[in-house]
Amino acid sequence: MKILQQIPPLRQQIRQWRQQNERIALVATMGNLHQGHLALIAEAQQRADRVVATIFVNPLQFAAGEDLSRYPRTPKEDYEALRSAGCDLLFAPEEAVIYPDGRSQPLTRVEVPALSDTLCGIHRPGHFNGVATVVLKLLHLTTPDLALFGEKDFQQLQIIRRLCYDLNLETEIVAVATVREADGLALSSRNGYLTTKERAVAPNLYRILGEMAQAVERESSGFRQIEVRAMGAATEAGFVPEYFALRRRGDLQPAERGEKDLIALAAVRLGTTRLIDNLQIG
Ligand code: PAJ
Repeated sequence: MKILQQIPPLRQQIRQWRQQNERIALVATMGNLHQGHLALIAEAQQRADRVVATIFVNPLQFAAGEDLSRYPRTPKEDYEALRSAGCDLLFAPEEAVIYPDGRSQPLTRVEVPALSDTLCGIHRPGHFNGVATVVLKLLHLTTPDLALFGEKDFQQLQIIRRLCYDLNLETEIVAVATVREADGLALSSRNGYLTTKERAVAPNLYRILGEMAQAVERESSGFRQIEVRAMGAATEAGFVPEYFALRRRGDLQPAERGEKDLIALAAVRLGTTRLIDNLQIG
């Protein structure tokens, strides 16, 4: 596996693969890789000739006071995991390569307002603009035929799809199902922040999403009532809930009974850790 930190050699390698008519897949990450990330790599290998992974802890998507400085960085383990997974190229740039004039400069930014101003967007102002901006940069740098993103971050996935649609990108966006621990907890780099006690509470997030899905399918109660009940169950379990929401999968707008293609989404705080998860319904 080739490891590159600079843009010119990255572009040169991509150009060479393109000349050989090879199909290129991108898996963008912030590192501290786990089986969820590796599921994206495996799916990429099924669908493309060359797999490019990126590791970049994007400061633009962390608001002041968020966990940028303590975000787990495990470069050696990550390289090894990618190498044994058979990844072809790792692009792991320094911050100055991605933001050469500094990130406090007035940068051009990408905004997907239709999908960013709700759910996590309310609780993490600016977060999705930071994500959309860096993802567009990575898509331009690697010009992949396809790029894979996890359903774990469902709002992010829909924002990236919409960004590609609105800005006429040719890259196909492929969604990969959430990889979970045996007890249901979705794998996340942030799970490492949890204390033993918190780790025991964490699986309740997925359990409560499952209860929301059951209520949608088996009860006649209104959706807003189901959301309120889930907030209560989350508090009871030991979380500080940010939101539990029943939405339409396509546009993430509030759903009503009778609609199809729904999703239950949630964000909670558990001590100093913020956890998100979701469950598709119907
Ligand atoms: P990161 O949190 O490292 O996640 C990288 C990719 O892995 C995302 O597409 C995410 O949805 C996927 N992923 C994470 N946990 C997963 C799980 N348990 N199962 C399946 N897929 C999972 O998401 C980001 O980084 C950043 O916002 C990024 C897109 C790289 C932009 O900076």
